[in-house]
Amino acid sequence: MPDLTTDTQKVSTDTGFLSAIAQKQRGVGIELRGVSKVYPGQDAPAVEDFSMQIDPGELIMFVGPSGCGKTTTMKMINRIIEPTGGSIRIDGTDILSMNPNQLRRHIGYVIQQIGLFPHLTIAENIGVVPRLLGWSKAKTAERVDELLQTVQLDPGQFAKRYPKQLSGGQQQRAGVARALAADPSVMLMDEPFGATDPITREKLQAEFLRLQADIGKTIIFVTHDFDEAIKLGDRIAVLSDRSHIEQFDTPAHILANPANEYVASFIGHGAALKRLALIPVSEAQLRPASDGAPQIDLDVSLRDALDLLMVTGAPVVNVVDADGRVRGSIDSAGISAVLTDAPGAAAEGVH
Ligand SMILES: Nc1ncnc2c1ncn2[C@@H]1O[C@H](COP(=O)(O)OP(=O)(O)O)[C@@H](O)[C@H]1O
Ligand SMILES: [Mg+2]
Repeated sequence: MPDLTTDTQKVSTDTGFLSAIAQKQRGVGIELRGVSKVYPGQDAPAVEDFSMQIDPGELIMFVGPSGCGKTTTMKMINRIIEPTGGSIRIDGTDILSMNPNQLRRHIGYVIQQIGLFPHLTIAENIGVVPRLLGWSKAKTAERVDELLQTVQLDPGQFAKRYPKQLSGGQQQRAGVARALAADPSVMLMDEPFGATDPITREKLQAEFLRLQADIGKTIIFVTHDFDEAIKLGDRIAVLSDRSHIEQFDTPAHILANPANEYVASFIGHGAALKRLALIPVSEAQLRPASDGAPQIDLDVSLRDALDLLMVTGAPVVNVVDADGRVRGSIDSAGISAVLTDAPGAAAEGVH
């Protein structure tokens, strides 16, 4: 989180845009047009002619190999890196004409290296941006408390600890809490869970999805892990060299119809299973219930249904709704029919 400690100037007169995004808890739209970046001394651009329209409250994943320009693209949105060309608008306002330090305080930023200040307690870390924004001590303390609970760190236990007294996963949660401190409507997250072990990572992803369902921020989330992109994203931008967009669509559509070989190679093996994981059982055509068959909930994914078929060896599973009523049954033919009948079905997927 660069520049926050060095800049001690308090914001007295926010522009309309800044107070607007500070007051709106929900996300706002972001528009990038023809954005490019040529680093000094480089011939080739790191990002070339990047255009994208992001709707308010969307969770957008940038996925692509190391060095393709994901971080550079993201850092131009909070102006840690200045674009060489193009325009960037947030909620309709041209952010390239704004004071970058003010802008940054209104955009949450989470990075893989976490970037907690080692000499500040967890509470002080989370309070950095509120302090710069001139919040009172009481209001800041209240917010810190609330956020620690949001990211499931007990305030009594963690507020006064220093970062090194937390596990990697706990530090990452504190990092998310800090990014949320001033209730920004835009969050930028650069491989935020990349350094955690697989189990912690899965937990953080699940918590993050629950949190986002609640707060509805506009989020750009960088990852090199396509499975993470499928799991979290409303839409995924598959990027190649120079941040070139190979495909920008929902996870279900990309899995069903990869735009080209490059995207297909990114999806890797098991595209059908990955698609099934995104489609709720409720999308399938159910057949009459079968006595004594194993049961599965209506709102789980078709992949879970297939899993149950495999594990039990049963020919069909019965599907039950939230009230415990059996709605019908499904077998493996019924599951594969969903994949063939409706390519790109389940735009509203199961997370
Ligand atoms: N400060 C810099 N100066 C010069 N080149 C850079 C700088 N930062 C990144 N690059 C180059 O820009 C390209 C994109 O980098 P980056 O945006 O970090 O990619 P990613 O996040 O996808 O791994 C790479 O070729 C990288 O070497
Ligand atoms: Mg990067």
